[in-house]
Amino acid sequence: MSNKPLTAKTNDKGHFEVGGCDTVELAKQFGTPLYVVDELTLRHNCRQYVSTLKSKYPNSLVLYASKALCNTAVLKMVCDEGLGLDVSSGGELYTAKKANLDLSKVYFHGNNKPLKELEEGVAAGVNIVADNLCELKNLDQISKRLKMTARVMFRINPGIEAHTHEFIQTGKIDSKFGIQKDKIIEAAKIVSGSRYLTFIGLHTHIGSQIFDIDPFVSEADVLFDYAKQIKDATGLEAKELDFGGGWGVSYIDEKPAPVPQLLEKVIQRVRAKAAELKIPEPKIIFEPGRSIISPAGITLYTIGSVKEIPGIRKYAMIDGGMSDNPRPILYDAQYDALIANKISVETCHGKSLQKYRIAGRFCESGDILIKEIKLPKIDENDILAVMCTGAYGYSMASNYNRVCRPPMVVVNNGKSTLILKRETYEDLVSQDVIL
Ligand code: LLP
Repeated sequence: MSNKPLTAKTNDKGHFEVGGCDTVELAKQFGTPLYVVDELTLRHNCRQYVSTLKSKYPNSLVLYASKALCNTAVLKMVCDEGLGLDVSSGGELYTAKKANLDLSKVYFHGNNKPLKELEEGVAAGVNIVADNLCELKNLDQISKRLKMTARVMFRINPGIEAHTHEFIQTGKIDSKFGIQKDKIIEAAKIVSGSRYLTFIGLHTHIGSQIFDIDPFVSEADVLFDYAKQIKDATGLEAKELDFGGGWGVSYIDEKPAPVPQLLEKVIQRVRAKAAELKIPEPKIIFEPGRSIISPAGITLYTIGSVKEIPGIRKYAMIDGGMSDNPRPILYDAQYDALIANKISVETCHGKSLQKYRIAGRFCESGDILIKEIKLPKIDENDILAVMCTGAYGYSMASNYNRVCRPPMVVVNNGKSTLILKRETYEDLVSQDVIL
């Protein structure tokens, strides 16, 4: 797996091209910073999940974890490929509604969903993934008040540690997420005693940017174990087992195993466990976010000043940074990039490459997008294209320094379509109460 979109190539001008569009032209037309999504890569990544499951385990569903990148156009494309959605807030749910999507394939997550949002979820008829007993009790009350039945799944804490950044590990015992082992029967009893709640199954999510398949296979053991305990104690059947998301992508030169390999190993274990426990094979669910959208996205920036501190380093400054991509400052995340208007220099004259630090424009020394990268000699107005930025960039973007967030275009077959407008100064002050 490369860290570039599938359609990436160099065109005859020596420019970087994605989705048949010259990225230097895109920068000119839409301005920078600019988020670019390659439709073909996005659809291909969806199909990797959907087609493997369809052929090997049809009783299954893939949910796109919309927290990775959520706007109506992207949600529509993903759902058009047959995926459902994982939403984790009223805002993501609202976006799904705006996109006119099938709400029966939406699963609502979150460790502390505000009551108002929980109510929106019940009213919309989405599946609710309950994270704790307090939420279950509230859910019962809300459903009763709305005279509706809520389909409920429990998020369990599997006690599995995945090897990834501490901030994006979620399956450890010491975690804010999930119902603990000693509370699971109490949770099941709340549901079995309620006229308004229907138990559908169990969910777990162990973390993000994971390359090891084993923890996902272990999830099957834990999920079946909990399912059995619940069945024995209350008679409730977990008809759906949700393995969460978390599969890793290549930002620099990481080599994740192909998605079908991950799915096949999990399926094998699911079949074996169902046979061992003599229970019907459950519906299985996966919730990828990053592995669907990240490789489909790139971000374009324009270089401003280039500054050399003799004997120390060269800085190249971009017109964006930590507000459009906070991952480097938050997680020390690494990215690869190229100069979109100098690709031929990059590939043909490797020796002429120089080391640069790519610095953002924000008032914070830590606003460094890339600590060190070799690129051809950088000049003012060059276009920097950063790879694999589809996930958790726009979705975690801020207005730090009151900078307007960038627009987003989808590219396909030489056509570019604006799917998100650039914020304006007016947008920035639109919520200010001017006294
Ligand atoms: N399901 C649940 C319940 C989740 O909490 C998440 C991610 C996913 C699915 C999707 O995981 P993915 O396939 O995208 O790894 N901001 C961090 C990542 C946080 C992930 C939060 N949960 C980052 O930029 O690395």
